[in-house]
Amino acid sequence: MACFFRRKIAAKLARTLQQSEDVFIPSLTAVSPLKKQQSGADLRLSLSTLRVEGILPSSGDIQLQTENLAAQLKQDSVVEDISTGHAVINFKVNRGLLAEKVLEPFAKGDDDNFGLNSELLNSLPRGTTLVEYSSPNIAKKFHAGHLRSTIIGNFIANLKQSLGNNVIRMNYLGDWGMQFGLLGAGFKQFGCVEKLKDNPLQHLFEVYVKVNKEVEHSEDMKQAARDFFRQLEQHESQAVTLWQQFRELTVKEYQQVYKRLGVHFDIYSGESFHQDQAQEVVQELQRRGLLKVSERGTRVVDLSPEGDMTNVCTLLRSDGTTLYITRDIAAAISRRETHGFDEMIYVTDKSQENHFSQLFQILVTMGHSWAERCQHVSFGLVQGMKTRTGDVVFLEDVLDEARARMLHNMNQTSTSKELENPEDTAERVGISALIVQDFKGPLQGDYKFDWDRMLQARGDTGVFLQYTHARLCSLIRRNEGAETGTFNPSLLQEQTSINILQQLLRYDEILHQSSKDLQPRHLVTFLLKLCHFVASAHTELPVAGSPQDVAQARLRLFRAARSVLANGMKILGITPVPKM
Ligand code: ARG
Repeated sequence: MACFFRRKIAAKLARTLQQSEDVFIPSLTAVSPLKKQQSGADLRLSLSTLRVEGILPSSGDIQLQTENLAAQLKQDSVVEDISTGHAVINFKVNRGLLAEKVLEPFAKGDDDNFGLNSELLNSLPRGTTLVEYSSPNIAKKFHAGHLRSTIIGNFIANLKQSLGNNVIRMNYLGDWGMQFGLLGAGFKQFGCVEKLKDNPLQHLFEVYVKVNKEVEHSEDMKQAARDFFRQLEQHESQAVTLWQQFRELTVKEYQQVYKRLGVHFDIYSGESFHQDQAQEVVQELQRRGLLKVSERGTRVVDLSPEGDMTNVCTLLRSDGTTLYITRDIAAAISRRETHGFDEMIYVTDKSQENHFSQLFQILVTMGHSWAERCQHVSFGLVQGMKTRTGDVVFLEDVLDEARARMLHNMNQTSTSKELENPEDTAERVGISALIVQDFKGPLQGDYKFDWDRMLQARGDTGVFLQYTHARLCSLIRRNEGAETGTFNPSLLQEQTSINILQQLLRYDEILHQSSKDLQPRHLVTFLLKLCHFVASAHTELPVAGSPQDVAQARLRLFRAARSVLANGMKILGITPVPKM
């Protein structure tokens, strides 16, 4: 296992430099394998990291320092070769040990926990993480930004959970505000209870579109909307009952659609929950003397460093009603009180960056130092997310389209015939394609949505990940029972085997890196590369027809690759398919 080699090399360094082993762990990284590399190193020590960490003096020629240190280190039964590069020392470990140690957990059937107990991951802080994501608005469009938030938030929650945190998954619905005045008044005129029950998302959206047209020319409708919202704010039972119905039916339908996507939430919260608390927050700010009256009669908090009102945040309209941010302040405080989280992560597009930075700033000003452990993970825009029938309005539209297109592709290559449930497989594979397309680049970047490109079977796509997984499963199925006898690691010495082993050795570092910046692209790139190595292994390392001991060793390698691929896919939010 990775930690075995890291620990051994760290011990060697500790003896030479008279320091404790632990200090060297973060400076040692597994080397990313190259296809053609013949006698490649497995681990690498970075001298500049050692300098930054204060373990080595920062003065003098770094290359000289590198050569000097390398000269003091001796080879042994674990480390076969020591060489230097530019400010790095390379370690090549004993080839038999490499296979033995990397594959050890798979001998014990501990496939699912591979890499998770390494000292690198154990060094990460653990606690309760609240992740808020998806958060669509009732009766409005579920746009590409909501889709991104849903899959990115799910990835972050999965990652944190596999690293041993207690994770709370929260959906914060847009279920309050003047739009509910419109919706309530509109429903009285255009609504139909039957339709609402049959297809709540669709029907509420229709009503909302109609009422918005109507208010453009009807003063009566405008007044009705204001009246309905006032009734809601005053908790009048008729209005509240109707609103509750909207909300409940919406949540129910969302739950179904999220399930298709492999996403779930522990809590469906929403802006409405914090309506009254938001007023209390305002009073609290007032008591602390932090609330100012602006020229327009609104109540604001001054966030400018000079205190000259050059950067203010509005918390109350002049009519005394609260805003989006006011409810967010109340929601954050209430979440902290209820769940006692150690960190909270909000996932939305980058247009809300200022909103969240103001939110955290206000919370800190109010004395809530835990707000320093709140984080906004923001992402770029998606252009051109459309289906054959036009604009995407509902999450369901995208999922249906992904499934239909994938099924069409599968039928063309006639792979779907042997499947028990081709629709289901097409759906899972289609969703992986969506996810991988989205996760390939830095989250901050914008990208163009492209059905054809994302669904290619051969490119770096989610389809390729699924295809590789299914192919590995089939290989393992066909050779059921062949993995018996004593495993001989010295039979895995071809470059192709070494590439896979070296890649597996990096898994914990990839998760570590992901947990630092919460970017899914490290894991995506890692898995795609693993799949490319597996593709070569399929042709170069045959199982059928090989001597029993060779077949057995190769099968173990393939099984390890399949498990790590599946584990990584699950963290990304992809359900691996056993056949396709
Ligand atoms: N409902 C909001 C929107 O669609 C996103 C909510 C984000 N979360 C929050 N706590 N403000 O834009």
